[in-house]
Amino acid sequence: MKYKKVVVSKRGGPEVLRVSEEDLREPSPGEVRVRILATPVCLPDVQARYGKSPFRRSIPFVPGYAVIGVVDAIGREKRYANPNPSQFSVGDQVAALTIYGGYAEHIHLPKKQLIPVPAGLDLAEAAIVILNYMVAYQSLHRSARVQSGDKVLIIGASGGIGTAFLQLGQLAGLKMYGLASQSKHAILTEYGATPIDYRTQDFVEVLRLAEPNGLDAVFDGMGGDYVDRGISILGRGGVFVEYGNPLSLPGLLKLLGKTILTNLLPNGKKARVYGTTLSQFGRQPFLDDWAALFKLLAEGKIRPVIQDRFPILEASRANARLESGLVIGNLVLLAPELMHSSMA
Ligand SMILES: NC(=O)c1ccc[n+]([C@@H]2O[C@H](COP(=O)([O-])OP(=O)(O)OC[C@H]3O[C@@H](n4cnc5c(N)ncnc54)[C@H](OP(=O)(O)O)[C@@H]3O)[C@@H](O)[C@H]2O)c1
Repeated sequence: MKYKKVVVSKRGGPEVLRVSEEDLREPSPGEVRVRILATPVCLPDVQARYGKSPFRRSIPFVPGYAVIGVVDAIGREKRYANPNPSQFSVGDQVAALTIYGGYAEHIHLPKKQLIPVPAGLDLAEAAIVILNYMVAYQSLHRSARVQSGDKVLIIGASGGIGTAFLQLGQLAGLKMYGLASQSKHAILTEYGATPIDYRTQDFVEVLRLAEPNGLDAVFDGMGGDYVDRGISILGRGGVFVEYGNPLSLPGLLKLLGKTILTNLLPNGKKARVYGTTLSQFGRQPFLDDWAALFKLLAEGKIRPVIQDRFPILEASRANARLESGLVIGNLVLLAPELMHSSMA
């Protein structure tokens, strides 16, 4: 049996994404094979394709940071390794934070990487929760430990992670400001945030006037001079959280240097670097937070903003859309059966 995947075989724009076909192998011991139903299209996929990362992925590779799917084959238990056989069975709905490999009809994953997904969720929305809501949720509640009434700034507020911040921030009772292009301001006001057009306004000046005692937290996914400017508008006890990809090794070292310096200075300000791959909180907090987010999704308390849905093998078109800069919220790639049900 064969399966298809979307491969980056040279650096460049969305046009370098090509569909390729290969034999579908049986899972090795300790592995599970998952038939992918949904996978988000996010900025790290684009950055990885251009090679913008301190830890560049070598070519060829399949992008796709997170998946939701169904277990369709389970490898033998590893000899000696695991006294508890897998808790997953063929047909179970599962998710995984894959970093790479999601733009495909199937993926092979170590069993220990699987996340249980409760029944009854919209799987396109659940795919968005796995990555973008996790980044926002942990930045808010584990890195910054926000409290109701805190005054916060969200940089990049109209994007995939930005809109997750808006919804989770509203649920947490925060007073929110957000940076976004003028044409995208409506989504910020919908969730109770005050929008600032970073293209025409100096947000530091605007916020110094609006909040003379400074902010309690700033969340940034853009890096560059947003780091210094974001830290400058914190009040005493305020926390700056950087979750953006630093794009290069010098960028990463500079960010770590600024973070250390901010934490050493005696002005009460703190800086944190957040990454889903840093494993700073350990595996169990991730499982707890995914479960909490799936519960919020099931209860209708969060509702990912999905601007468009594409067939998985049309990842190139979806990437071109993301790079157009016109997207509000998220894009998601779906298997044919979910495409049909979302069009019905
Ligand atoms: N730490 C982690 O584990 C992790 C995981 C996933 C993603 N990330 C990082 O998080 C960042 C955001 O990812 P995403 O998928 O949410 O991206 P996205 O959906 O493309 O959103 C990015 C947003 O940034 C805004 N923007 C673009 N240029 C800007 C600028 N110069 N100043 C201010 N805002 C600007 C855009 O909105 P406007 O049109 O309104 O400007 C866009 O909505 C990326 O750096 C990504 O690598 C980190």
